[in-house]
Amino acid sequence: APSSDAELLQFLQQLEAPLKNLPQLAKDFEATFHDLALTSTSQFLPTPVRVLPSGDETGQFLALDLGGTNLRVGVVELFGRSSLDTGGERLCIPTQGSWNIPEHLKSSTAEDLFHWVSERIRDVLRETSTTAEVMELGITFSFPMEQTSHTSALLMPMGKGFTFTNTNDLAALLTTAYAQTSAAGEPAIKIVSITNDSVATLLSAAYAHTTPHSKTAAGIIAGTGTNATCMCPIGKLHPAKKPSGGNAGGILLNTEWSINGTAPPLQPYVTDWDRHLDARNEKPGFQPLEEMVGGRYLGELVRLVGLDVFTQHSLPAGMYHEYGVDTKLCGDVEAASTDSDALALLADYFSADGGWGLGLETAAVFKRVCTTISTRAAALVAAATVGVLGVNDELEDGVDIVVGYTGTILEKYPGFKERCEGFMREIVRRMRGSEEGATVTLVEARDGGILGAAVLAAMVKGGST
Ligand code: BG6
Ligand code: GLC
Repeated sequence: APSSDAELLQFLQQLEAPLKNLPQLAKDFEATFHDLALTSTSQFLPTPVRVLPSGDETGQFLALDLGGTNLRVGVVELFGRSSLDTGGERLCIPTQGSWNIPEHLKSSTAEDLFHWVSERIRDVLRETSTTAEVMELGITFSFPMEQTSHTSALLMPMGKGFTFTNTNDLAALLTTAYAQTSAAGEPAIKIVSITNDSVATLLSAAYAHTTPHSKTAAGIIAGTGTNATCMCPIGKLHPAKKPSGGNAGGILLNTEWSINGTAPPLQPYVTDWDRHLDARNEKPGFQPLEEMVGGRYLGELVRLVGLDVFTQHSLPAGMYHEYGVDTKLCGDVEAASTDSDALALLADYFSADGGWGLGLETAAVFKRVCTTISTRAAALVAAATVGVLGVNDELEDGVDIVVGYTGTILEKYPGFKERCEGFMREIVRRMRGSEEGATVTLVEARDGGILGAAVLAAMVKGGST
C-alpha cells in the first residue's frame, strides 16, 4: 500500500496507462471493430435502419424504454421541424411514467419481466384516458438483439445483472404478456418498431440536432452499461450481415462494443482490480469494456482500489461489501470543492456503518482514486468512439461531427462528458497532426430512449427506414 504521495501516484499509474497514448488506443479499437464488423455474430449487429430521420417525422406514439436500471413508458408527440417555424416545439412527452426495475425480475424469467412491463404500460395508458382502440408502440430495449425486421427481435445473452437466458422474440413476449394483463375496454397495443437504446439515442439526436453544417454520426451511451451505434457502409460487413439488395448505402449497427470481442485493445490496461471485479461478476468475461466504464461498476472499482490504498486504516463496513460504494457517491466526492466537503459526504454516506471516521487526508485520497477511475473511463469511451467513427470513415469528409449521448454517467457524473469530449478532440487532433479540420462535439440526447423509440416508429410508419 502506498505510504506517501509519490507512492500513491506510482500506485495509481497503472490506471492512468490508457491515457498515455490515446491515438494508438483509438487505432487499436478501430482495427478490432473493423474485424468485428466483418466476423462477429454477437457484436456490430445489423439493424433494419438504413437512414437517419429527416426531422420532419410526425405522429403520436406510445414509447417504451426498457433499460438496465429503469423502465420508462410515455406518450410522445412528434411535431416535426416545421413546427419550429411557427415558434412551436419539435416534440413533447405529455404523459410518462418511470420505474426502477425490481431486482428479482433480473434473475427471474423473461415472461415475469414482460408481465411487469405490461402492467406499467397499462398504468400509463390509464393516465392518458385515451379512447384509441389501438396504440402504436415504439420499443427501446437496452440489450443485444438479433433483428431482421422492425417488429421482431430475438433476445441474446444479457448483461447488467440480468441472468435469465431466453432467445424468444421480444415482440411475442410483450404481446403475450400484455394480452394476459389487459382488461376489457383498454386499448390494444401494436408494436411498430423495436430498437436498441444506442440506436434510439442516435435517432433522437439526429431528429433534434442535425443541421446543414453538421451531421449526427454516432450515438453513444455511458450509463449503467455502455454501447454505441453508427451508420456503417454495407461493404464493410460480413455477407451474412448484409441486408438484401446489394452493397449500396449504409446500415445502422448496434456495436455492442462492451462485449468480449473488444478485449484485445483493452488487454494491456486491465489491472488486478479489473480482474477481481470480473471474476466476481455474474458473467465473467462477458463485457470487459463495460466493467471499466459502466456506472454499474465504477463505484466498485473505487472500492477495490481503496481497499489496497487504505490498508493501514480500519474502514467502514460498507467498504468491505461488494458494491458497497455507489458510483453516485464517487461523482459527488469528485465534485466536492474542498477536502472537508468530500469528508462530510463520505461521513454521511457511511453513517450507518459508524461514519467514515478517517481524516481529511484520506478523504482527499479517496477523491483522487475516484478521479483516476472516472478519467480512465472517459478516456476509454473517447478512444472507442473515435475507433467507431474511423471504421465508418466519418472523420474523413471534413464535416463537423456530432455524437449524440445519453446515460447517467455521461449525463450526470460531474465532468465526465467534458473530459470525454476533450479526449476525443485531442485524439482526432493528434491523429491528424494538425489543428485544422472538423471537430467532434458531444450533444445530449435527453430522454433519448423514449424519444428515439417514437422517432423510429414514425419513420417506419412513413416508410422511410
Ligand atoms: C437514458 C435513455 O437516458 O439512458 C435510455 O433514455 C438508456 O434509453 C439510458 O437506456 C442508459 O442510461 P442508464 O444510466 O439508465 O443505464
Ligand atoms: C449494455 C447492453 C447494450 C446497451 C448498453 C447501454 O452494454 O448490452 O445493449 O446498449 O448496455 O445501455
